[in-house]
Amino acid sequence: MTDSKKIGVTELVLRDAHQSLLATRFRYSDMESALKDLDSVGFWSVESWGGAIFDSCIRYLGEDPWERIRKIKSMMPNTPQQMLLRGQNLLGYKHYSDDVVNKFVECSKKNGVDVFRVFDALNDTRNMHQALQAVIGVEGHAQGTISYTTSPVHTIDLWVDLAKRIQDMGAQSLAIKDMAGLLKPYVAFELVSKLKDELEIPVHLHCHATTGFSVATGVKAIEAGLDVIDTSISSMSMTYGHTPTETMISILDGTNRETDLNLEKLKPIAEHFQSVRKKYKKFEGSLRGVDARIISSQVPGGMLTNLENQLKAQDSIDKFDNVIKEIPKVRKELGYIPLVTPTSQIVGTQSVINILSGSRYSTITNEVKSLLKGEYGETPASVDKNLQQQAIGDSAVITCRPADLLNDDFQSAKEDFEKAMTENNLMSESSDENILIYTMFPEIGVNFLANIDNPDYFEAEPLEIHELTDSAYLVTVDDKEYSVTLKADNSVVINDGSQINETKSDAKVEAGLGTIIEAPLGGNIFRTIASEGDSVEADATVLILEAMKMETEIKAPSAGIIAKIFVKPGDTVKPGNPLFEIQS
Ligand code: CO
Repeated sequence: MTDSKKIGVTELVLRDAHQSLLATRFRYSDMESALKDLDSVGFWSVESWGGAIFDSCIRYLGEDPWERIRKIKSMMPNTPQQMLLRGQNLLGYKHYSDDVVNKFVECSKKNGVDVFRVFDALNDTRNMHQALQAVIGVEGHAQGTISYTTSPVHTIDLWVDLAKRIQDMGAQSLAIKDMAGLLKPYVAFELVSKLKDELEIPVHLHCHATTGFSVATGVKAIEAGLDVIDTSISSMSMTYGHTPTETMISILDGTNRETDLNLEKLKPIAEHFQSVRKKYKKFEGSLRGVDARIISSQVPGGMLTNLENQLKAQDSIDKFDNVIKEIPKVRKELGYIPLVTPTSQIVGTQSVINILSGSRYSTITNEVKSLLKGEYGETPASVDKNLQQQAIGDSAVITCRPADLLNDDFQSAKEDFEKAMTENNLMSESSDENILIYTMFPEIGVNFLANIDNPDYFEAEPLEIHELTDSAYLVTVDDKEYSVTLKADNSVVINDGSQINETKSDAKVEAGLGTIIEAPLGGNIFRTIASEGDSVEADATVLILEAMKMETEIKAPSAGIIAKIFVKPGDTVKPGNPLFEIQS
């Protein structure tokens, strides 16, 4: 061992653990009673915010994400709170102006975030620069990140060069973010050894357990001189998640790299999360142990759960293996981009469309077009030129820092917010926090602000469930207990013999004179562009479907008249559901 410094630990249970294992659904109410215990452990930091938390809070849970971090911070005065921040994308899915980035970081610091792990999905340092400067400006801890991936272009030298550039931007530490669990133990030893030789700032490691490498990778990285390791409490660890905190502490115990943490203090935390996790059973992915296919597909944990849930919702789970095989092909065509939010959704959604529609790139999402145009930044390798030509034609490709093309600022974001509030008859306060909710999530943000006092609008709180056997549960509803059995087809039988079945939509329409265009994948109708009776050109966008947080334009296959539109904004559709009829 090269170093006898104690290793620091970042606990992930409040953010990435449930993002990866339970589709980011943990409610604050199910964390609260564990916060004091978590605060007493002595973690280097607890990751509690950012990533998909903000989105999940306003989209599904009806929780104000700003209030969540304020409450966590006030309950945990002794522990630095850490967030995951997508550089110039903040927590949204596009680039924001430098002014908006500054305001977001300032608000996050003010509301309780101490450590900012800043990354960019393409590892384009130009997209991390402003966020890191903003964090330094408000005296937060600015951590730069390499999003680890493997490809013919990703060598150790490339990573070391990237890390040095991150250090040169003023980062106070460097994180290796191994979101797909692809960092092998001996590669980690080499990588961390080189980084420790070449860098002055501490090195942190974040590995997912999906491939089974994570525990060994952590140990080898620590042997090479790693400074801080990310882990998650045992009852919320492994599969799509991370190395268990207790396991790593025990492995290091008695060595010259031991931690300062006490296993006894982790017991009540593990018990708490073991108990509340049961309530979220329906969000669990199907992975048990390790899925070795991930080693070739490079699909990160969170993305796998999302794909599974999406394909289940679309009655297409039988296509799962085909989608997994499609992902590396799409990734290569898009310049070997790492798979991490938002690129994981971009590649995932396009792969789902390529498989479910039965024809590769017959529909290309707006996000794939933007990527091919250079709007996300520079890809690690060149994109497929034929695909680029097909997607964007002769449009110019952007080569400057993408955010340099933005001319909005926080003042214009404020004006847009106030206009949206007036248009929607909402009285939400024009606070920086509310403006940022709206700026990052315009449609969902308005719905959230409109329904903040209306819990019925959001997902129902999960029921208190006590497991009796593998398939039998005690469910408490309004203080009454029901014994229920979950059957293999996911239907639920209550002990009085009645059965709850998932309702299936069978909306099938007989073809009229025209051509019926069906949904290529399941999702929500985001917006209709054309109206019934409109005459449209071939390739004109008729409506926009939102699936997996991505917008997909549904186009007219030929010129004609829109005879009928079968859906309206907000409708949920499954693949094959009719969207519109066109007559030529
Ligand atoms: Co992660």
